[in-house]
Amino acid sequence: MELTTNFTGLDLRAEIDRLRKERNAVILAHYYQKPELQDIADFVGDSLDLSKKAQATDADVIAFCGVRFMAETAKILSPQKIVVLPDMDAGCSLEDSCPPEQFAAFRAKHPDHIALTYINCSAEVKALSDVIVTSSSAEAILAKIPLDQKIIFGPDRNLGGYLARKTGRDMLLWPGVCIVHEAFSETELLKLKAQHPGAPIAAHPECPAIILDHADYVGSTRGILEYANAMPGDTLIVATEPHIIHQMERAMPTKHFIGAPGADGNCNCNICPYMALNTMEKLYVALRDLEPRIEMEEGLRLRAKKSLDAMLAMAGGTVGQGDLGPATLTGD
Ligand code: 13P
Ligand code: SF4
Repeated sequence: MELTTNFTGLDLRAEIDRLRKERNAVILAHYYQKPELQDIADFVGDSLDLSKKAQATDADVIAFCGVRFMAETAKILSPQKIVVLPDMDAGCSLEDSCPPEQFAAFRAKHPDHIALTYINCSAEVKALSDVIVTSSSAEAILAKIPLDQKIIFGPDRNLGGYLARKTGRDMLLWPGVCIVHEAFSETELLKLKAQHPGAPIAAHPECPAIILDHADYVGSTRGILEYANAMPGDTLIVATEPHIIHQMERAMPTKHFIGAPGADGNCNCNICPYMALNTMEKLYVALRDLEPRIEMEEGLRLRAKKSLDAMLAMAGGTVGQGDLGPATLTGD
């Protein structure tokens, strides 16, 4: 997205603060956002916690520093609020991998299956689903579904595969992947581990099995942060988008966090290119102009809300609870 404003001489932090008050806005940020956006946010969280915050806030405006499916989720849950996303091009490879018409056709071929769908998808795919899950709520929700119920899990085949191995549930997996978590290299990870033999590895379940097999902990971004806090040692290898390390270093300044490497050892391939589109300048413009704004046709919103409501009802807990926990892969 091109910006036409001249920002010379503008104190962006002060201006964003002023506009936040003027607009009665809340700034929500995901852990994969640039440090300056995490630092200015009112709340930083994982996908589940951000959804709950968006639903509970009494602000008039939600400025969502994350990707489009997250801002859409906020709009679905809080339709009376203005939801702005600093850059409307902030998509997600998982969302792109699951076009609604193909998903509808797949569902039609398997009428006896319910669709348990990762929140990283479009509002249209949410509307075609029965229950949405996030990485921090998936296992608890799966445990509430009767064992004889057949399940389609999409769009992340890595998260679906991890859940299937961990719980022994046989699910039909949609073949989508996160380009960021696919970029981690087992060879490079093992080289890094050899340099830091005492350091555990914490990984996001969007990573392929070949990476998760080496993890001491698998969980959502918030789960990884909690693990970092609780671990006995002082060094952690982190196999997820590296901007989360900013939050770890803030909360645990005496510990040492090392990002897991991508294929050539020092590429930027595990920085999420979609999350990276948001900047302080674009956040300022979004609060000033209340654009770009998430708009949604009411029928679609209501259909998508059903599967999100099912998630919120089944996930239980309050913000900051519930996760995939220690890696206990069956067959390890
Ligand atoms: P969580 O923050 O829910 O773990 O999700 C990670 C992610 O990839 C968001 O796009
Ligand atoms: Fe999508 Fe992966 Fe980026 Fe998350 S990290 S927004 S799953 S592309």
